[in-house]
Amino acid sequence: MGTAKGSVLIASDVQAILPYTKKVVYLDDLETAHVKGEAFQVFDANGKPVEKKVTTIDWTAEQAKKEGYPHFMLKEIFEEPRAVARALAPHVDVEKHAVDILSHTGLWSANQLSAACASIDRIIIVACCTSFYAAQVGGYLIEQFAGVATSTDIASEFRYRKPVIAKNTLAILISQSGETADTLAVLRQLKKMQVPVLSISNVKNSTVDREADGRLYMNAGPEIGVASTKAFTATLALMHLLALDLAKVRGQLKLNDESRYVRALLAAPAQMETVLACDKFFSEAAATLKNYKGFLYMGRGVNYPIALEGALKLKELAYMHAEGYAAGEMKHGPLALIDDRMAVVMLAPSDSLYEKTLSNLEEAKARGGVIISIGTVGNEKLRALSARYLALPRAEWSVNPLLESIPLQLLAYHVANALGHDVDQPRNLAKSVTVE
Ligand code: AGP
Repeated sequence: MGTAKGSVLIASDVQAILPYTKKVVYLDDLETAHVKGEAFQVFDANGKPVEKKVTTIDWTAEQAKKEGYPHFMLKEIFEEPRAVARALAPHVDVEKHAVDILSHTGLWSANQLSAACASIDRIIIVACCTSFYAAQVGGYLIEQFAGVATSTDIASEFRYRKPVIAKNTLAILISQSGETADTLAVLRQLKKMQVPVLSISNVKNSTVDREADGRLYMNAGPEIGVASTKAFTATLALMHLLALDLAKVRGQLKLNDESRYVRALLAAPAQMETVLACDKFFSEAAATLKNYKGFLYMGRGVNYPIALEGALKLKELAYMHAEGYAAGEMKHGPLALIDDRMAVVMLAPSDSLYEKTLSNLEEAKARGGVIISIGTVGNEKLRALSARYLALPRAEWSVNPLLESIPLQLLAYHVANALGHDVDQPRNLAKSVTVE
């Protein structure tokens, strides 16, 4: 609730109030407010008056405007390099190329940190949809860098499965809006089970943010487009820092590896800027791409969740059939889908799984699939095999997801646009799913 010009404004998201006031109060569950003119009084579930803290929103009304872009989504895609830089900034020492993020969560004091992190036997990361795909990338990174067993789960599945939670488990919940009903239900379930919960959200004082035990912020600024873009890549950056810092605090990260990967992350925003140039590539290709009967998005390892996210973007914006698949799964079924009307988007950066991914690409091509490959710059073999080849700057394997996300977002944006859809407000969808 916010007060402005002699009235009280009430909304489910702060963005709606932002153009009128930056001072708001947040109602907790079962509270009610009695509003009269510009005055209001809040009462708790027992009807007792409650004094509420006034919060000042640290976003500007400008940020919640299109600023010359045709759609909020396109503006937010072009903001991604800055959003990733803002996500990284509070947690890296740019001189020493060192990471320090776990101490910023509020979960542990400085002298508890090392023992607390050493005692973590398992991490569970729970979220919905795009945030779940970021969770999956995070799970890969944490296992690869920190060697902590990590599982990822969709909130609507987790909450009804009576999950078995081992001792010494840390839960991480990811939610851009901080209001997603299923994710919030899992938060409350885990708190009842005394499992410590770290939230990663984009909206300060959102319900997930307020109720978690510790918190990190995407710092992406208001994300208005229903399809999440900059919040997603900001989360990928935070998950990478968490994986590095967990390895470091547990004594598993060699000093030169810390600086190597922190440098790679600090270089990512500039590399993302160069990848944004593919906007033209997809705006020109969209007229053709929109006519395919469907899209298969393929990737291996840390690229596989990005394939899932790319397919979701096309589904939610272009309303086209699209599926994300682990490339190694092709022979187990998806290969039957391949023909010259099926576009195959292959994430094939030059990482340790490239050769395997290349053979999957050749299988699809041999069956007439139309190959759109996204690979590392200078890969002439990939270019020769593909109907369309998009080159990404050379980066560490763990940074490729940040670079791959942009072309997949732009592909979906331009195909949806070419189909005349409302890109910012796709049919049947809401920005935050506050109901089951
Ligand atoms: C994002 O593109 C999707 N529109 C949506 O599925 C979203 O990722 C999901 O609802 C989770 O939202 P949250 O991150 O705010 O919890």
